Amino acid sequence: MTKRSEGSAGDPGEASGDWPAGLKMIRGVMSVPHVLYDAGGAVLLDTGFPGDARRIRRALAEAGMGPRDVRAILLTHGHIDHAGNAAELKAWSGAPVYAHPLEQAHIDGVYPYRGLARLTGLAEAAGRAVTGYAPVKIDVPIVDGDELPFWGGLRVVHLPGHTLGHCGFHSAKHDVLFSGDLWVRFMMRTQASPRIFSDDVSMVPASLRKARAIGARRIVPGHYDVPNATRLRRRFEELCEELERAGRPRVV
Ligand SMILES: [Fe+2]
Repeated sequence: MTKRSEGSAGDPGEASGDWPAGLKMIRGVMSVPHVLYDAGGAVLLDTGFPGDARRIRRALAEAGMGPRDVRAILLTHGHIDHAGNAAELKAWSGAPVYAHPLEQAHIDGVYPYRGLARLTGLAEAAGRAVTGYAPVKIDVPIVDGDELPFWGGLRVVHLPGHTLGHCGFHSAKHDVLFSGDLWVRFMMRTQASPRIFSDDVSMVPASLRKARAIGARRIVPGHYDVPNATRLRRRFEELCEELERAGRPRVV
C-alpha cells in the first residue's frame, strides 16, 4: 500500500505523452489499476482498492470488452489497494489470478508485518473490516522470468522489497515496464517504496537497479497522477540517478 491517489472517477483512457496503445489507466480510490487489451482479449493489471471494480468494468466496456474477454487478472502484489477487487472480478469474469506465491499471505491478510510496516498492516486490517474485503486464491503462481501470453507477451520481473513477492511486468512489444509499487509518482513527488510500506526496504535499491537495467522506454508505476509515460520514465531515471549518487534512493 502506498500513498493515496486522487479519487477521481475519470478514466482518461489512452492518455497523453507516448502512452501505449491498448492500455487504460483507472483512477482508483487509492491506486491506479490498468486494463491491457488487444484483439486477443484483455488482462486486468491489479484490481484497486475495494470499490474500484465498477471503474474497472467501465474501462473494459469502453474498450469494447466484457467479462468473457478477460483472460487473466495479474497482481503486482497483495496489498489491499491492488488486490482489493480480485475476488469480485474473478467471480465476474471467471479469469484466473496470477501472482507470486509469496503474495498469498498479503492477500489473505495474515502477513506478519514487522517494524514500522506494522502500521501498514493495521491500516489494511481496518480497510478490510470497513469494506468487507474478500481474499482470493492465487490460481497461477508466477516467478521471475515467466513469459505470459497476454498483450503481445508479458515477462514477469520479480522486484522484491515493497513486498517479498512483488513483481513487475515487462512488455517488449509495447516497450513498457509496469513496476507496481517499487516506486511511485504522487503529488509531484517521486519516491521509492518507503520503509513504512515495505516488507524489506533493504531490497528496494537492487530492485530499482534491476528495473532500470531492463531499459524499457516507458515505465508505469502503480500510483501516479499524470498519465504521461515519457515523463514517468524521466522521473524514474532521476530517482535512480539519485540512488547511484547517494547510495540509496530518496525518502526510504
Ligand atoms: Fe503496495
